[in-house]
Amino acid sequence: MALILGLESSCDETAAALVTSDRRILAHRLARQDERHRPYGGVVPEIAARAHVEMLGPLVEQALEEAQVTLADIDAIAATAGPGLIGGVMVGLVTGKALALASGKPLIAVNHLEGHALSPRLSDPDLAFPYLLLLVSGGHCQLLLVEGVGRYHRLATTIDDAAGEAFDKTAKLLDLGFPGGPAVEVAAAQGSPRAVPLPRPLVGSGEPHFSFAGLKSAVARVTDDYAKEDIAASFQQAVVDCLIDRTRIALGKASEATALVVAGGVAANKTVRGALEGLAADHGMRFVAPPLWLCTDNAAMIGWAGAERFAVGLTDPLDTPARARWPL
Ligand code: KG4
Ligand code: ZN
Repeated sequence: MALILGLESSCDETAAALVTSDRRILAHRLARQDERHRPYGGVVPEIAARAHVEMLGPLVEQALEEAQVTLADIDAIAATAGPGLIGGVMVGLVTGKALALASGKPLIAVNHLEGHALSPRLSDPDLAFPYLLLLVSGGHCQLLLVEGVGRYHRLATTIDDAAGEAFDKTAKLLDLGFPGGPAVEVAAAQGSPRAVPLPRPLVGSGEPHFSFAGLKSAVARVTDDYAKEDIAASFQQAVVDCLIDRTRIALGKASEATALVVAGGVAANKTVRGALEGLAADHGMRFVAPPLWLCTDNAAMIGWAGAERFAVGLTDPLDTPARARWPL
């Protein structure tokens, strides 16, 4: 059994977790920064980086205390090394390096997307490779065949915006507040998904790629003509229709997949989860979605990705760079 300290700081959540290779989360401490970014209507990278500097050290201390362990008990330190807002990534990675140096334990530089991609295996011990993963976050919208640790075959990506980005921009257009995705979901619950005619970009095309920029522009054109709740519900339905249609195409290309899996912040959306569950059932496939808190950014998924990498002997040198861009 290995014990891994996970650190996350690539966007606007600062987090530290202690995770074991047998799927126990001994501690998880997370600080959000919503109040600091709300006045700007979006995440301000410089403010985020400064907040990570303030908060990460205390969160690590609290996590160690909660788990009643010391650095000496840990087998490795896993820190997000990208992709993300570079200032924040540097804070987490440098903290990880300092702790590795001080404790003599190995560093594991985790790709944040790999954290999301493997997170369903933390919550579901029965999820075996390969699986088809819909990875839907603020920065990414991809369909991946996850074949093993470090083995990700990308079947599709977005040609413009990510799904979460579309949620965030729609929230801004509708003045629903920050953070945007959950605010759209709440407003949508009060509206009709059929009230506003909106496009379904790329639906029907043979390749499973995504596009959301046109949908966001279409929302911008109707903000004065309908109730916010109806626009939110119709927008959410349009996103769901796109995700389902594109995932259906990918399922046809990934017959070896043992399960349909969703991860990333948008996977916290209940309409999205419900529709994917229905799609999986239509195909007689297992559907796996992590609990809501494990979908949005957190350090448990980074600790878990670290545990998976550690188990196959993958550690990284102390001169590993922080990367703003890092495709899986
Ligand atoms: O994975 P994540 O926490 O951070 C990134 O790696 O990007 O994803 C954040 C994204 C944001 O765009 C946020 O608006 C979206 O996930 N999101 C949601 C919901 N919760 C978070 N989108 C729709 N419905 C939600 N409930
Ligand atoms: Zn993320």
